[in-house]
Amino acid sequence: MALSISSLFGREVLDSRGTPTLEVELQLSDGSRGRAMVPSGASKGEHEALELRDGDPKRYLGKGVLKAVRNIQDEVARILVGKSFADLKAVDHCLIQADGTDQKKKFGANTILGVSLAYAHALSASQKRELYWIFNEMMGLSSKDLSMPTPLMNILNGGVHANNGLEIQEFMIVPHGFESFSEALRAGTEVFHHLKNRLHDLHYSTAVGDEGGFAPNLESNEQAIELICEAITKAGYHLGKQISLALDVASSSFFNKEKVLYDFRWKGASSVNSQELIEFYESLRKKYPLVSIEDGLDENDWNGWAKLTQTLGKSTQLVGDDLFVTQKKYLEKGIREKVGNAILIKVNQVGSLSETMETMLLGKKHGYRSIVSHRSGETEDITIAHLAVGSGCGQIKTGSLSRGERTAKYNELLRIEEGALRRGTCIPFFRAFTA
Ligand code: PGA
Ligand code: ZN
Repeated sequence: MALSISSLFGREVLDSRGTPTLEVELQLSDGSRGRAMVPSGASKGEHEALELRDGDPKRYLGKGVLKAVRNIQDEVARILVGKSFADLKAVDHCLIQADGTDQKKKFGANTILGVSLAYAHALSASQKRELYWIFNEMMGLSSKDLSMPTPLMNILNGGVHANNGLEIQEFMIVPHGFESFSEALRAGTEVFHHLKNRLHDLHYSTAVGDEGGFAPNLESNEQAIELICEAITKAGYHLGKQISLALDVASSSFFNKEKVLYDFRWKGASSVNSQELIEFYESLRKKYPLVSIEDGLDENDWNGWAKLTQTLGKSTQLVGDDLFVTQKKYLEKGIREKVGNAILIKVNQVGSLSETMETMLLGKKHGYRSIVSHRSGETEDITIAHLAVGSGCGQIKTGSLSRGERTAKYNELLRIEEGALRRGTCIPFFRAFTA
């Protein structure tokens, strides 16, 4: 018989930027408990589901989440407590129906996601199985589909995650030429330390940005890429064969709607159009082992995106983050219009785990790769590590190799890999890219 939800409550806690966020605790009728925290973005997509905040300037500069806490305690608890549900999908569905709005505006996506995450953890406790199995089963997959993801590590931060004048938000290294996740993690970490030493020698700041990457005041985006390539080589790794590069340009954050141009410095100009930005990416692609470009163009520049995909889609992973906002309807449009070839998966962009997994399955069916991702405002919650493994999607983006909220996910992945080995099985490392 399905277990019922015996208690549910929410509390206001802090995220990695010192901004309040929601934590939810849920108990099932067999006594199993689940607890989870909700992340929060800075460079948000226009169409993301609503993050409910109090707006009361007297508390946390308006960023409190007591309304969401109250929603959990009152209406959501009334709907869920004492009831049994067949599975997580049924819980999500029930709350989505009760909310009844397109972008979860009534309860807030943070409220609904908090419950969804906590319920998943409670199921894992109840079944005495690792959380990744819950996701694996929910997606209709099997043990053969489990894999350890290739990490996309954001070791140099710019854009709205730093205040150093670099337009590109994330300069990532992708350690793909390794036998295991732990080896890939070690290699990436060594590069991170070599980059730190090099920045120090050049008298640049080694303070870190929101996602734990360095945020030096460099001259240009190209200089950032050059320094990372040097660090890879200095660490003793083969650039392109073992470790490649990825960018999250987050171009919506510097798209100038009035001028219909991107405020991006290139070839002496201070702004460029979509075509020029595509040419910039092509020039990088020729010079560096750049395997993945996220949000290369603005979230509303669908024509530009189609051109970008025609130009670079065969050779390069083109990831839609703000463009698709983890929602099926935008991914469907992308599939129809042949835009992008991969999707970034952020659970709070859509606001429930079931919908997140549906989007991933839709992508899989149409040859779009999924990259499970954190947000720039994170917590010590480790759910996304299990989502990456259980879905076998092959890639995770969870920041740099510093700051506890980033290393929490990497450390959980180490536990998952090691735990399987200890039980005599092996979850294979997914080599998302080959040289
Ligand atoms: P965000 O950044 O969480 O601030 O949106 C991450 C990203 O753009 O991928
Ligand atoms: Zn992004």
